[in-house]
Amino acid sequence: MSLADWKAVFEKWNLLHYQNDDASHDIYHFRRVANNAFHIASNYPEESVDKFVLLAAAYFHDVVNLPKDHPRRKEASKLSAEKAGKILTDLGVSSEKIPGVQHAILTHSFSAKIEPKTIEAKILQDADRIDSFGTVGVLRALYVAGRLGRSLFDTSDPLAHKRPLDDQKFSLDHLETKIMIMPKSLKTDYGKNIAEPRVEIVKTFRDLLAKEILSGKHDSLMQVADTFFEAGKQKKFLFHPEDPFAISRKKNKGLYAMDHLLSIDGLSWMFSSLKDELRHH
Ligand SMILES: [Fe+2]
Repeated sequence: MSLADWKAVFEKWNLLHYQNDDASHDIYHFRRVANNAFHIASNYPEESVDKFVLLAAAYFHDVVNLPKDHPRRKEASKLSAEKAGKILTDLGVSSEKIPGVQHAILTHSFSAKIEPKTIEAKILQDADRIDSFGTVGVLRALYVAGRLGRSLFDTSDPLAHKRPLDDQKFSLDHLETKIMIMPKSLKTDYGKNIAEPRVEIVKTFRDLLAKEILSGKHDSLMQVADTFFEAGKQKKFLFHPEDPFAISRKKNKGLYAMDHLLSIDGLSWMFSSLKDELRHH
C-alpha cells in the first residue's frame, strides 16, 4: 500500500474509533502534526527518514489522551505507544515497522522525559511541539485553560514581574513557560526554523494582551482570549479545518470558536499566521 493509502486507513480509524471531546487533541491536531512532520522530513535525504513510521506515529501519538490534570498523565505516551502497537497490528502493518512507531510515540511528550533516539522520533517530537506555537498554539492554550478551569491571567501582574510564573494557574503564564522552553526543546534545525516565527506570534500575543489588561481597555486580544477560553468550557471546535475564515461557507458560531472573531478588526496578523501554519495541509 502507498503512503496515501495508509493515510486514508489511519484517518478512517481515527474518525471511527478515536473519541475525545478535547479539540486541542482532535484529528485536526494529528493532521497538523503529520503535516509539520512531513515538512521537516522533506529537508532530509529521501531514504534517511521512514515516512511510514512518521505518518503512523503522527496519527496515533495521542491515541490515549489524558487531560493535563489526570493522575496518570505522565504515562499517556507509554499507553499510547502500547495501544498504537495493537491498532497497527490489527490494521495489518508489518511487525518490523511497529517498534519504530512506538519509540517515536513513547518519546514525544515532555512529561515522559525519554530522549528520542531515531530521526523519526526527533521529527515527531518537533512536529507535535510546533503545534503549540503560533496562532494555533495560542488558541489551543486558551482553549485548554477554559477546559481545565484555569484562570486566563493575573489581572494585576499579567507578565509575572513581581511573582513566580504559575503555568498551572494562569494561561498567560503557560504561554510564557512555553516561550522559554522552546529554543532548547526542539531537536531538528528544520523544526527550529519553522518554530521561530511562531514563537514570535506567541510573544506578540502575550505582550498585546498584557497591554490590554493593564490599560483596562479590553480590545481584540481580550476577545480572542475570552472566546477560546469559553470554547474550552463549551467544548467547541477551534476552527473549521478546511475553511477557518469562512470564505466559502456560512459562519457557525455554535460549532467553531474562530467564527466569533472573523469580523473583529486588528487580528489580521494572527489570521495570516494561522493561514501560513495551515498551508502545508
Ligand atoms: Fe500531540
